[in-house]
Amino acid sequence: MRRPLCSSLPRPACLQKMIDLHAHILPGMDDGAPSLEASLEMARLAVESGVKAMAATPHCGLPDGDGPDAGQVRTAAARLGRALERAGIPLRLYAGMEIFGTAQTAQRLREGTLIPLAGSRYPLIEFPFEGYARQATQILEAVLRLGMQPIVAHPERYRYAQADPQLLNEWVDMGCLLQINRGSLLGRFGPREETLAHRLVGRGFAAFVASDAHTPVVRTPWLRDVWALLCREYSEETARLLLEENPARVLGNRAMDMDEPEWFD
Ligand SMILES: [Fe+2]
Repeated sequence: MRRPLCSSLPRPACLQKMIDLHAHILPGMDDGAPSLEASLEMARLAVESGVKAMAATPHCGLPDGDGPDAGQVRTAAARLGRALERAGIPLRLYAGMEIFGTAQTAQRLREGTLIPLAGSRYPLIEFPFEGYARQATQILEAVLRLGMQPIVAHPERYRYAQADPQLLNEWVDMGCLLQINRGSLLGRFGPREETLAHRLVGRGFAAFVASDAHTPVVRTPWLRDVWALLCREYSEETARLLLEENPARVLGNRAMDMDEPEWFD
């Protein structure tokens, strides 16, 4: 008798449709995977939890000039992609960056020394956790003027967004997209992060949930638990939107189709 594939695993793992847009999986490139072995272990975990594709997003564009450039990231992603194939791990890997937002970010994106996710028009941009609201808004405006649509990495972790969520009204109204961390929704970063993460999902501000994985042990790329949490506390439609459909639009460089959120007042 033919044995059904993944018969013992819950649905998302069988469907293998989730897409993780934020993961520090490239070996030895930043504070993420320290070795090829760790990268492969992270990829195995991701696949086992139901992830079919991932953007490799090392920290780049740091103010001290540290961090890899576009060529190094593309080369490392291609090399890891080949290693995944050799190891028989069915994870499609795309080159990306988690860009540290500075006054030079827009110019460096225009020059191509910084790159968006998977060759799309969607760059993933992070900001310092404190005291950066005005600078962040100016940087996002400059990136939008390039015709790109910035994805703000984990806004729920920024103190100024926690203190004044109306800032996120402004960013979303400008055309920015918000990526929430799995760990924030699960309460791993603390109550303030957890509260804002849930408000952003509940009010329709969140466009994506991603792992922001750093290792195969803590802050892992396991997404099945957050899929279950989204299904349980919101709806399966929400889980599908944030972990499958919206990320697929980014990988395909297709337009986003976000409903208007319930604005903060
Ligand atoms: Fe990150």
